[in-house]
Amino acid sequence: MVKRVQFSHTGGSEVLELADVVMADPGPGEVRITNHAIGLNFIDIYFRTGLYPAPALPSGLGTEGAGVVDAVGEGVTHLKPGDRVAYAQGPLGAYAEQHVLPAEKVVPLPDGIGFDTAAGAMLKGLTVQYLLRQTYPLQGGETILFHAAAGGVGSIACQWARALGVKLIGTVSSEEKAQLAKRNGAWATIDYSREDVVERVRELTNGRMVDVVYDSVGKDTWLTSLDCLKPRGLMVSFGNASGPVEGVNIGILNQKGSLFATRPSLNGYADTPERLQTMAAELFEMIGSGKVEIDIAQRYPLAEAGAAQDAVASRKTTGSTILLP
Ligand SMILES: NC(=O)c1ccc[n+]([C@@H]2O[C@H](COP(=O)([O-])OP(=O)(O)OC[C@H]3O[C@@H](n4cnc5c(N)ncnc54)[C@H](OP(=O)(O)O)[C@@H]3O)[C@@H](O)[C@H]2O)c1
Repeated sequence: MVKRVQFSHTGGSEVLELADVVMADPGPGEVRITNHAIGLNFIDIYFRTGLYPAPALPSGLGTEGAGVVDAVGEGVTHLKPGDRVAYAQGPLGAYAEQHVLPAEKVVPLPDGIGFDTAAGAMLKGLTVQYLLRQTYPLQGGETILFHAAAGGVGSIACQWARALGVKLIGTVSSEEKAQLAKRNGAWATIDYSREDVVERVRELTNGRMVDVVYDSVGKDTWLTSLDCLKPRGLMVSFGNASGPVEGVNIGILNQKGSLFATRPSLNGYADTPERLQTMAAELFEMIGSGKVEIDIAQRYPLAEAGAAQDAVASRKTTGSTILLP
C-alpha cells in the first residue's frame, strides 16, 4: 500500500483525503515512479474545485514530481529501474508516494539537479520555456508585462527574461513580492493591488507600451492587459488565478490595436516526446548554468496538501511549493 491524496467530490481543500491504495503495476509503455518530491501548481486547485473537470472521480491530483523509477512496463526503452527522473504532465495522481504514468512523459534528471529542485521546476519551468521561447520567441531588447511575477511561474520568468536581455515589468500585490521579483531580475514592478497598471506601463515605456503581456491572473486583469499592449502586440492568456476569462468578443482585439491573442498550455507545446525532451534540456541547461535558480519557498508534508493549496490560493506563497512524501 502507498499513500495517495485523492478527492471524491469537487470543492474546498477539505475534499482532499489521504488514502492507502495499492499502486498498479505499470502497463505497456508506462513507468512506476517512487516520488521523492511533488510539485504543487495552481492547476491542481482548478481540478480540485471543478473548474477543470477530472476525467473520473474519485481522482488523484497533481501532475508534477521527481523521484526514482521503480518499475517499467513492456516496451519502455529509455528508462530503467533506479533511474532518477522528473515529470510535469498528466495523468492526475502525482500527490502520492508512487505514481504510474506514460514513460514518454518522463525525462531523465541530470545528476546535478536535486529532486526538490526538479519538483519545483518542471511544470513551471517548462511553461516559462514555451512562453518566452516559443509562444513569442523573445530575441532580447523587448519589453514585456508578466503578471504574478513573484509566484512560481513568475519567479522563473523574471530570471529567464533577464538572461535573454528582455525588460520584464512584473505585477505583484505587495512590497515584499516587488522586492523578490526585482531580485529575480524584473526590470520594474507594478503593485496591481494599488497602482494604475496601464498608466505605470505607459510611464515605464515612454508611451510605447509592451510587446507581449503574459497573463495568468485571468478575469481580473484581461482588459487591463489588452490596454498595456502596443499596436499588433501579443496577449498571452495562460491561467485563471482570479477566475476564467469568459464571453470575449473578438472585435475587442481590433478596438485595442489589431492585437493578437493566444490561450496556450504546456500540453499543447510539450505534445511529443521529442519536444518534451528538447524543452526539458533547455530548462535543465538554464538551471545547471545558474541563470535560473528554483526558489522552493514552501515545503509541506504530503498529508498537508490541502493547507499547501490554501496557502497558494490565498496569495500567501512566493516561488515554488513542493509536497514531501
Ligand atoms: N497554461 C499553462 O501552460 C500554465 C502552466 C503553469 C501555470 N499556469 C498558470 O500560471 C499561474 C501561476 O501558477 P503558479 O502555480 O506558479 O501559481 P503562483 O503564481 O505561485 O500563484 C498564483 C499567484 O497569482 C496571483 N493572483 C492574482 N490574483 C489572484 C487571485 N484572485 N487568487 C489567487 N492568486 C492570485 C498571486 O500573486 P500576487 O499576490 O502577486 O497577485 C498568486 O501568488 C496560474 O494561473 C496557473 O494556472 C498555466
